[in-house]
Amino acid sequence: MTAKRQPELVGRTALVTGASSGIGRAIAVRLAVAGASVVATGRNRRALDELAAAADRREVDIHLHPADITDTDARAELAEAVRQLPGSLSIMIHSAGAYQRSPVAEADISDLDHQYAVNVRAPYALTQLLLPELLDAGRRSGGDIIFVNSTQGITASPNISQYAATKHALRAIADSLRAEVADAGVRVCTMLPGRTATPMQRRVVQAGGPSWVPDTLMAPQDVAEMVTVVLALPIRTTVTEVVMRPARMLPG
Ligand SMILES: NC(=O)c1ccc[n+]([C@@H]2O[C@H](COP(=O)([O-])OP(=O)(O)OC[C@H]3O[C@@H](n4cnc5c(N)ncnc54)[C@H](OP(=O)(O)O)[C@@H]3O)[C@@H](O)[C@H]2O)c1
Repeated sequence: MTAKRQPELVGRTALVTGASSGIGRAIAVRLAVAGASVVATGRNRRALDELAAAADRREVDIHLHPADITDTDARAELAEAVRQLPGSLSIMIHSAGAYQRSPVAEADISDLDHQYAVNVRAPYALTQLLLPELLDAGRRSGGDIIFVNSTQGITASPNISQYAATKHALRAIADSLRAEVADAGVRVCTMLPGRTATPMQRRVVQAGGPSWVPDTLMAPQDVAEMVTVVLALPIRTTVTEVVMRPARMLPG
């Protein structure tokens, strides 16, 4: 699959969280190649620098702003950095996420707090901070907010109660927000991918044994490709949810 510039995305400014790894990184690269100006955030400075080097090699536009999105001050600084850019924000992609696996009987309650902080509270608060900019963009020519959720946001599997609960909550936030901002020209989409070959998924699989076979999973680029399809549709049409799963049936 050769990614190309897309006229619908040229000149738009996008913030992508979780851009230092996996799905968020693939989305940041794909949007930049399509012609958007991308602000990439995550905590891992080295990974972000590698992303910037890859962007330079492809001669595309990615600005870095490292931040821990669970930190109130860091979120405020990130939002301010986005406001200072020459282009005004019209796309926000929430891909940062945390995942812990354990049966309810054994799960550590602090893991629930952490996943809530990363998967629910941070995207909620960051959306609040930058919603005025997105509403302005919506009224001018259209704005988009995409939440990278999970098939665990539809149906919770055993041993993933905490993560699934946060993803159910995130889906609810997206549903409310969609109805609140639709008339201002802002579209809200929940992406619900299944198993995707990222560092997060590798940790999950390898914790259960050595059977890491990425070719049986989706690639992060597949999710990124779908994101561009959703964004490039005419503003008269909103894609509310997209479910994506590996084509092969997987155990577990
Ligand atoms: N992989 C899958 O199979 C799968 C399936 C369904 C849904 N998802 C969802 O897809 C999204 C991306 O997951 P992934 O598989 O790409 O995982 P990943 O490779 O582990 O990437 C997770 C990203 O989240 C960022 N992040 C985590 N905590 C953060 C914090 N406190 N502040 C800022 N950034 C933070 C990480 O950045 P730093 O480490 O640099 O902070 C990293 O960029 C997540 O929301 C996940 O729930 C994944």
